[in-house]
Amino acid sequence: SHDYTLKPHPTIPAPEGPVMICILDGFGENEYKDEFNAVHVANTPTIDALRQVPNRFRTIKAHGTAVGLPSDADMGNSEVGHNALGSGQVVDQGARLVDIALETGKMFEGNGWKLISEAFATNTVHFIGLLSDGGVHSRADQLVGCLRGAAARGAKRIRCHILTDGRDVPDGSSVKFVEDLEAELASLREKGCDARIASGGGRMKVTMDRYEADWSMVKRGWDAHVLGKAPRTFTDAKTAVVTLRGPEDAPVSDQYLDPFVIVDETGAPVGTVQDGDAVVLFNFRADRMVEISKAFEYPDFAVFDRERVPQGLRFVGMMQYDGDLKLPANFLVPPPEILHVSGEYLVKNGISTFACSETQKFGHVTFFWNGNRSGYLDAKMEQYLEIPSDKIEFNQAPDMKAREITAASREALLSGKYKVVRVNFANPDMVGHTGDLAATIRACETCDACVKELLQVVDSVNGRWLVTSDHGNADDMVQRDKKGKPLMGEDGKPLALTSHTLAPVPIFVGGKGLPEGVVFKQGDAEAGLANVAATTFNLLGYEAPEIYKPTLVEVKTA
Ligand code: 3PG
Ligand code: CO
Repeated sequence: SHDYTLKPHPTIPAPEGPVMICILDGFGENEYKDEFNAVHVANTPTIDALRQVPNRFRTIKAHGTAVGLPSDADMGNSEVGHNALGSGQVVDQGARLVDIALETGKMFEGNGWKLISEAFATNTVHFIGLLSDGGVHSRADQLVGCLRGAAARGAKRIRCHILTDGRDVPDGSSVKFVEDLEAELASLREKGCDARIASGGGRMKVTMDRYEADWSMVKRGWDAHVLGKAPRTFTDAKTAVVTLRGPEDAPVSDQYLDPFVIVDETGAPVGTVQDGDAVVLFNFRADRMVEISKAFEYPDFAVFDRERVPQGLRFVGMMQYDGDLKLPANFLVPPPEILHVSGEYLVKNGISTFACSETQKFGHVTFFWNGNRSGYLDAKMEQYLEIPSDKIEFNQAPDMKAREITAASREALLSGKYKVVRVNFANPDMVGHTGDLAATIRACETCDACVKELLQVVDSVNGRWLVTSDHGNADDMVQRDKKGKPLMGEDGKPLALTSHTLAPVPIFVGGKGLPEGVVFKQGDAEAGLANVAATTFNLLGYEAPEIYKPTLVEVKTA
C-alpha cells in the first residue's frame, strides 16, 4: 500500500487562507500574436498584469509527449491535460496505448477481441465512433487497423456508424474522411467482406454528448445506429454528408450535421444492430462515450425509450471508459492506470477541496482530474459543484456560466471550509471550438474579469493562487500554412481553426498569502502540465510527493 504522508515544506509555511487553482480551458500562450489570436487581441488587463510580475509567470508544455500523447505533433486536450494537472505524472494515454496494441497485435489477443470475434462468422460487427484524424477522441487509422484486423480474422459483415468531426480537425474535412473510409471499405469488399457505412451524424448533435448535458443527442444516435431511424436517409454516406452540409457558401458545420441512415434500393436501412451482433465503440477517450455505453450496456436503462434492445450483443469499447463503473465491461485495450492522484493525497491528509465548473467541463475538474475516477474520492473531504451549461452553440452566449462559477467559487473561498478551491472556466475552449473569432475574444475577456474578481477574493483571505490552462485553443483561430501564414477560403475569408493548438500554456502564481521569495525556478524548459501538482503542494505548504514531476517553484531568500 502506498504511503500518502505529506511532509511540511522546509521553507514555505502553510497558508492562512485557501489555495485556488484556476484553469482557463483552452487559453494558450501562442507564438502567433496577430489578429487571429483571441487571447492576444482580447482586452485582458488582469492577465496582462500577471504576465508582468517577474518570476511568477512562465509557460509550460501542454501537448504531445509531455502529456502522454504519441508524438509532439499531437495537440493537447482536456482529458490528457487534466489527467496531468491532477496526477502530477505523465502516463501513456489512450491514443498511444491503442497504437501499441495494434502495432504489437495485442489487441487481437485480448478478451474484448475474443468476444467480438464470436460474431464474425454469423453476425454483423458494428463500429461506432468519431471519424477523423484529430487524435483527441479517436483516430481514423486506428479504425482502419480494427477493420482490417476483423476482416482478416473472418468477419463476414461490417457496418460503420460515423460521427463527423470538424472540431478537432478543420470544418469540411468530413467529406474527405468519408471518401477515405469508403475506399477502405471497398477494398475489404473485394476481399469478400461485406463492409459498408450504415449511419452517422455530426458529433455535437449525435451520440457524443458528455456529462449528461443533453441526452437527446444520444437518443438520436441510438435511433440512427441501432434502429436505422433518422429524419433523412441516403444511399451513400458521401452524398449524406455533402447534402446535410448544405450550400457551400453557408454550410452547416461537420460538428452539427443531422443524423442520417444509409438505405438500400428498397429503402431499408443497410445496417441496423441485430441480436447477437458485435458493437465496437472505437473512440478511446471516455467523456463522450459514457452515455452511449450505458444505453447499450445497462439492461434497466431508462433515460430514453430505446424501443428495441438487441439481445446477446457482443459490446466493447476501444477502452474501458470508467473504471469505477466498469463501463463498458468489455474493451479492446486496457486504459491508462493513473495512480496516486493529488486528490488522494489531499483527502488522506485532511485537506478539504471544493471543485466547480459548468456541465461541459465538470467532469474535467473532477473525473479527469482524479485520473478518470467517477464520483468523490472522499465525500467527507470534498464538495463538487456543477453549474448547468446552456444547451446551445456557445458562440451565441460566450460568457457561458463564468459569472455563476465565479459567484460559487467566491462563496467557497470565503466560507473558510476549504483549503483548496479548484475551478475551470470553459469559455476560451468551448467558444474557441465554434471557430467564431469575435465570440472567442469576448470569451477571453469574460474570463479575465472573473479571474480579477477571484484573485481579489483570495487576497482578502490571505490565500494563494495558481492560474493556468490545460491546452491551447482560443490563442489561434485561423488555419495556417507551414510558415504560419493565415489561410483564406475561396471567398477570401479566413479559414477558421476550431481545434486546439500546440501552444504551451501560461502559469501564474501569487496571492497576498504567498511569501515573496516563492518564484518560478529558472531553466526547466521541458516542464509541462504534470509539474503543476507538485507546485500546488508547495503552495499548500507541503513538499510534493516524490513520484510527481518536480515543482516549478523555489524559495529565494533576499
Ligand atoms: C471536445 O470533446 O469538445 C473536443 O474534442 C476536445 O475538447 P476538450 O479536450 O477541451 O474537451
Ligand atoms: Co476543447
